[in-house]
Amino acid sequence: MQTVNHLPALREAVDTLRMRGAVALVPTMGALHEGHLTLVREARARAASLVVSIFVNPAQFGPNEDLDAYPRQLAEDSQLLKAEGVDLLWAPPVEEVYPQGFATTVSVSGVSEGLCGASRPGHFDGVATVVLKLFNQVRPDLAVFGEKDWQQLAVIRRMARDLDLTRPAAEAIHGIATVREADGLALSSRNRYLSADDRARAAALPRAMREAVARIEGGDQVSAALLALHRALIDGGFASVDYAELADAESLEPIEALGATPARLLVAARIGGTRLIDNMPVAGRQSVD
Ligand code: PAF
Repeated sequence: MQTVNHLPALREAVDTLRMRGAVALVPTMGALHEGHLTLVREARARAASLVVSIFVNPAQFGPNEDLDAYPRQLAEDSQLLKAEGVDLLWAPPVEEVYPQGFATTVSVSGVSEGLCGASRPGHFDGVATVVLKLFNQVRPDLAVFGEKDWQQLAVIRRMARDLDLTRPAAEAIHGIATVREADGLALSSRNRYLSADDRARAAALPRAMREAVARIEGGDQVSAALLALHRALIDGGFASVDYAELADAESLEPIEALGATPARLLVAARIGGTRLIDNMPVAGRQSVD
């Protein structure tokens, strides 16, 4: 595996890889866990060459968020990626991504605004801006993201459609199902901040969500299912619930009653100072003739 930190070397390395066929990109912020490695394996299976980027993007952290404390472990990450057969690691320093005078922001309205966008102003502008930059730097044929960050994926797909991206095209942006621990907790770099007690209690999140999905799919009122979900989280040891919403899977518009189009249950909740997010699919109602 080759590691490059500067754009001219990246371009040269990607041009060489492109001679072998399609190039896939998996963008990450490092602190890699099994969830990321699953994305890497999925990307590997879809393209001749595989580029992984590691860049802790300051633009997507709010002033009171954990940018400085965000785990950085490039040497360890690099070993993991090498073992997965990654061809190229793109690990630029901040100045390479945001050189002096940098003045452009990509803002995707609508889909960025609710859910995590409401409590993290500017977060998705930071994500969209860096992802468009990574796309333009690497120019991959396809890119792979985790469904764990469902709103992020929806924002990136919207951006790709709206801006007629070709490398990658919107259809070549693949979402991969969330990887979970045995008790259902979604893998996340932030799980490491949980104390042992909170880690055990955190399983209440996927459990309560699965129950809410079953209730909604079974025909219960959405508002009643969401209220029960909220209560189950507080009873289960969560300090607060930022949001618990049923939304259209693509536009993320809130849904009050299940229709025929695919829906998604999305939750953000805090436990012991750590904010956990998760989402699950909710099957649309089948029309019966
Ligand atoms: O999901 C992440 O790790 C980041 O938001 C991403 C997509 C790499 C952009 O910084």
